[in-house]
Amino acid sequence: MIRVAVLGASGYTGAETLRWVLGHPDLLLIGATANKHAGKKLSALWPSLNCDIVLTTEIPQADVYFLCLPHGEAAKLAPQLSGKIIDLSGDHRLDTEQTRRWYKFERAGAPWLYGLPELGHHRYAEVDRVANPGCFATALALSLLPMHRALPNVVSAVGLTGSTGSGASPTEGTHHPTRAENLRPYKDKVLKHQHAPEVENALGGGFRLDFVPISAPLRRGILVTIPLPGATLERYQDFYAGNPLVRICDAAPDTLGVLGSPRADLGIVEGEDGQAVVFCAIDNLCRGAGSQAVVNLNLLMGWEATRGMRQLPPVP
Ligand SMILES: NC(=O)c1ccc[n+]([C@@H]2O[C@H](COP(=O)([O-])OP(=O)(O)OC[C@H]3O[C@@H](n4cnc5c(N)ncnc54)[C@H](OP(=O)(O)O)[C@@H]3O)[C@@H](O)[C@H]2O)c1
Repeated sequence: MIRVAVLGASGYTGAETLRWVLGHPDLLLIGATANKHAGKKLSALWPSLNCDIVLTTEIPQADVYFLCLPHGEAAKLAPQLSGKIIDLSGDHRLDTEQTRRWYKFERAGAPWLYGLPELGHHRYAEVDRVANPGCFATALALSLLPMHRALPNVVSAVGLTGSTGSGASPTEGTHHPTRAENLRPYKDKVLKHQHAPEVENALGGGFRLDFVPISAPLRRGILVTIPLPGATLERYQDFYAGNPLVRICDAAPDTLGVLGSPRADLGIVEGEDGQAVVFCAIDNLCRGAGSQAVVNLNLLMGWEATRGMRQLPPVP
């Protein structure tokens, strides 16, 4: 068994990562950390996980670390760790200059392997550190990848997301009366979201992504919508053929269809004269965070990407 520690296990991505670790046949959870929740049992915070490990501030010795920490904290801790690391924060996704610009801190060294499995399983053989993609970035990149050689100079996208996307600590902007029954573009992040450069880099550049993130009255789920002339259902079906973590739908997908699932649902709606709109639905905590992180570990280990991913999510 591979010994796993989840750092930041009292947060939302930490909890979702735990769910996939605890359900994996080859992984053994040996420790979980927290900050202000240290000292509590996991079962007190996340009863459905039914796990009595006590959250600590000390980092246990493990073979693999999942960093489910706020931006800046992951980069601070990473140099002290050996073994394999999957960082769910944005700290290792961008180069030094972009990290300074978008995350406002200094990080030395090159970015880590950008862990979107669709960019190629072969890339995992030489590394032991992976930067897990951002949640919006995952949905956007999957929407654009099949068209990456035929994108216009400017791509415009809108993405709606649920409240878990903002983490477990409440703020003025995430308070229930503000978010419930409300659709609101992200303050300060319209055309300025840190996931836009991630997607531009992941696809090799050559275009600008104009992205509008909107908070929606859901707990989990992201739906991105991208008008993309020339996109066809057939092209997407061919590109993602045999990929168990992407389902191509012949209509626009919805977030309920991916709730609790490691899969992304993509829909391509074609109009007349080459008009087309690409939609992507993911669960921000699964394909956008925890399950994708465990897929990344599977690939680092040389295992099948979907090892431990067979559980079906709840219905409806
Ligand atoms: N939420 C999403 O949908 C999503 C998706 C993809 C990626 N991400 C990224 O994943 C990371 C975690 O996000 P999240 O939503 O899970 O955040 P979160 O719910 O706020 O959880 C943060 C975790 O980090 C711990 N922590 C806070 N400050 C710390 C410190 N100084 N030292 C050590 N531990 C500390 C917290 O412990 P206490 O609770 O005990 O204070 C908690 O366990 C972020 O970088 C986020 O951008 C989030």
